[in-house]
Amino acid sequence: MFRSMLAASAAALALALGAAGPGALAQTGDYARAAVANPQHQRAVRFADALGAADGSLVIPLGAETDLETRAAALSAEERASIARALTSARFRYGARATLSLRGIGEWDRILIVGLSPEPELIDVQMTGAVTGRSLLEEPGAVSVLTSGLDAATAAEFVTGMGVGEYRSDLYREDARDPDPLGATTVVGADAEARAIYAQRGQALIYAMAWTRDVSNEPANVIYPESFVRRARQAFAGVQGVTIQVLDENAMRRQGMGALLGVGQGSERPPRLLVIRYRGRGAPEGGPIVLAGKGITFDSGGISIKPSAGMGDMKMDMSGAASVTGAVLALARSRAPVDVVAIAALAENMPDGGAIRPGDVLTAMNGTTIEIESTDAEGRLVLADALAWAERNLDPAVIVDVATLTGAVRGALGDEYAGLFSRHDGLADQLSEAAEATGEPVWRLPLDDSYAGDIRSLIADIRNGGGSGAGAGTGAYFIGEFISRDIPWAHLDIANVAWSGANDWKPNGSAAFGVRLLERFVLDYQPIPRGEAE
Ligand code: BES
Ligand code: ZN
Ligand code: MN
Repeated sequence: MFRSMLAASAAALALALGAAGPGALAQTGDYARAAVANPQHQRAVRFADALGAADGSLVIPLGAETDLETRAAALSAEERASIARALTSARFRYGARATLSLRGIGEWDRILIVGLSPEPELIDVQMTGAVTGRSLLEEPGAVSVLTSGLDAATAAEFVTGMGVGEYRSDLYREDARDPDPLGATTVVGADAEARAIYAQRGQALIYAMAWTRDVSNEPANVIYPESFVRRARQAFAGVQGVTIQVLDENAMRRQGMGALLGVGQGSERPPRLLVIRYRGRGAPEGGPIVLAGKGITFDSGGISIKPSAGMGDMKMDMSGAASVTGAVLALARSRAPVDVVAIAALAENMPDGGAIRPGDVLTAMNGTTIEIESTDAEGRLVLADALAWAERNLDPAVIVDVATLTGAVRGALGDEYAGLFSRHDGLADQLSEAAEATGEPVWRLPLDDSYAGDIRSLIADIRNGGGSGAGAGTGAYFIGEFISRDIPWAHLDIANVAWSGANDWKPNGSAAFGVRLLERFVLDYQPIPRGEAE
């Protein structure tokens, strides 16, 4: 149904691929699209005080039947009566994410009624907006949204959600060559405050989520460590308060990052450590909030190779890195008064003649020796060096790492809740609250001391797997060995939530899980005292 609406830049890319063919260029070339989070995926948004003549689709968000009078005052009495009849006959429930699509009323192509519920949480408003935006991808014409009577935060959140819902992931379909541009969205009746909230924070969030989803959805011949870095540089170009540092293999060798280098050594694509710091005006002192992400641009398993069925999904194994980068992108582009760092631990896990083997011993940056039990437990290895680097170089107030770390987290939690691990209750509580407020739920799991036995090695300090069967907990425990116990640290295992099928608010592929959660966490962050947890 979306076949005629692809972005022009994707078309340029498809042409480049067609022209280049499968030769040497295809091995090393960077086909990354020049523009990410492409504006042509999104309707232009403008604001107006009054509803213009009927043109395209009309969106009417309603929290209750009685809202129709105020919100749709600009329509004729006849049109309102038709809508009211339809609402009654459809037993419309006015709850968040409910929709009713009407045709044949007045001169509108389509009138879309969406439920807001009488006293909605902002995240429900955003999700309702996303459902609206996604549904209207079927209608390439103009869109008008009636927001009279909504408070500023609600109106801005709804319009933000529409932008989130317009995201598409079918970037390489043939009809990308002939895109139908989407008509503009006109937001009617929103006040200056709503416009300001949307312009500052809404647009930044839409852009950041699209960036995160783009890099996660892109195949591994397009996104590899160096091209991930290039994409990040493009997204942050010109944004105030941002400094970017990139460690290449030589720099990592000098720092002794044997774990991250070890994972990368079986690939033609060299690993990178990408560090992006954003320090906004008015940011508190006390050290940055560090967000570290697993950035495996493809996880074949290495010598401990994965079964071939479904292996292609492992192009998304850099989703943690994409989400921490996206969260900092949202904060930086909205000029939030925070001090925050995204670290992307980037490598491709491949099985060539130079690859690490099971039984090998690597030495991480902090001197810890690691026996390789499985080369497929590579996420904890790249994060080991990322966390040790952060502790030594950044004096962090707090560290949160985000990783598609284990298949086991799905067995524990299903596919709604990400796994949260922390020894610091205050940090776990703040993350849980941010998760709830943003509709990206987490569930806390134990970091039991018995997991130390699971990673005991006879030859080295620790080994990267094995043990009791608490797969997600063992992985979390391993990562925790690379950060001093007095620094508040939490680990989010998002292997079960980073990727999902299409639903009412998103297309197939990346959910950008963590962008909204971490943005909210950083905005609301309350200092957590240092010191070893109980
Ligand atoms: N990237 C995978 C985890 C994963 C699985 C992510 C499914 C998304 C969907 C990770 O590197 C991995 O292979 N983990 C192993 C760990 C084991 C070898 C200790 C796993 O989960 O089987
Ligand atoms: Zn992995
Ligand atoms: Mn793996």
